[in-house]
Amino acid sequence: MKKISVSIIGASGYAGGELLRILLNHPNVEIAQATSRKFAKFPVTVAHPNLRGLTNLKFSKVEDLKKCDILFIGLPNGVSQKNMDGYMKIAPKIIDLGADFRLNNLENYENWYGKHEMPELLQKFIYGIAELHREKIRNTNYVACAGCEATCSILTLYPLFKNNLIYPQNVFIDAKLGSSAAGGKPSLSTHHPERSGVVRSYMPTMHRHTAEIEQELKTFSDTNIQVNVSATAIEMVRGILVTCQTFLKEDLSELDIWQIYRRTYENEPFIRLINDKVGVYRFPEPKLLSGTNFCDIGLQKDKRSNRLVVVGAIDNLVKGTAGQAVQAMNLMFGFDEELGLGFPGLHPI
Ligand SMILES: NC(=O)c1ccc[n+]([C@@H]2O[C@H](COP(=O)([O-])OP(=O)(O)OC[C@H]3O[C@@H](n4cnc5c(N)ncnc54)[C@H](OP(=O)(O)O)[C@@H]3O)[C@@H](O)[C@H]2O)c1
Repeated sequence: MKKISVSIIGASGYAGGELLRILLNHPNVEIAQATSRKFAKFPVTVAHPNLRGLTNLKFSKVEDLKKCDILFIGLPNGVSQKNMDGYMKIAPKIIDLGADFRLNNLENYENWYGKHEMPELLQKFIYGIAELHREKIRNTNYVACAGCEATCSILTLYPLFKNNLIYPQNVFIDAKLGSSAAGGKPSLSTHHPERSGVVRSYMPTMHRHTAEIEQELKTFSDTNIQVNVSATAIEMVRGILVTCQTFLKEDLSELDIWQIYRRTYENEPFIRLINDKVGVYRFPEPKLLSGTNFCDIGLQKDKRSNRLVVVGAIDNLVKGTAGQAVQAMNLMFGFDEELGLGFPGLHPI
């Protein structure tokens, strides 16, 4: 089988590095070009030393990109919308990892992010979570991958919304994030003496991913929904843990809820339901997911009330971005959806 040619814009970043790592081990892919402004002409291993010995690829400049079969874009939010019409001339298929094309409604986008430079393209992109949009992703040329925190929250809550089990205004998401979620560009808040050891509440309200979580979950609700997100930066490089609290409409047992989760996700290769009664890891744990494309989900119903707590975990750089993107690419090219995404993680780590 002829391999597809893939190029990556923004390949020196954390998401780009994970794309390189996964795609170098993908049997149907040849990486054509990978861009970086600051490392142009240097080996990609300068930015991603974990890839030493696996590739001789050197970084290119964006302006030197040649035509390819699919283009991944790992640019900071707000950049891809300035040039998307040009990128569309380079490749017939595009997967954007940033936030620019995730929201399909302009007013909603502008409320959360400000002005959009190519609003006419918002409707062209399909939101990248395969578990919700598999058929649409198979049949599109343009995918906007979900935000990492949004991916974890949506997958954790989806069965509750799909089956109309909860009050859709009373959903509280406590998200704990590792430092790599902020990307590779240093800032004062990511500087080691400031970041190390923190339990920093940095977005108690108005986290921008709220917009995409509501966009995706409201499809299953006949009333308005309101998702309340609070985000905390914790001592971790990779990983997200969301603890979602909500209230059940009916007095369902924990077993009933497990059955609904099992039914919803029974054919999903990357969703694992964690219901262990013994051992240390009885609930999802991001540490165990480092480098994997899994989303682990666990739950417990409060015996004293109708409160339900559902916990989800992912690696923000894999299921939360690069792995999700490769999963979408596999669907867009008719490959086995799991190709290149089989890494099972490490224990102990
Ligand atoms: N980090 C995560 O966990 C995560 C999760 C989900 C989604 N995402 C999304 O993925 C995208 C990339 O995130 P990241 O964490 O990889 O960020 P990052 O580490 O800061 O990387 C950004 C990349 O873009 C390049 N770049 C920056 N400004 C540019 C410009 N004006 N023109 C051309 N290239 C430019 C940078 O390289 P040079 O400066 O060398 O050109 C670098 O390769 C973001 O949109 C982010 O929202 C990230």
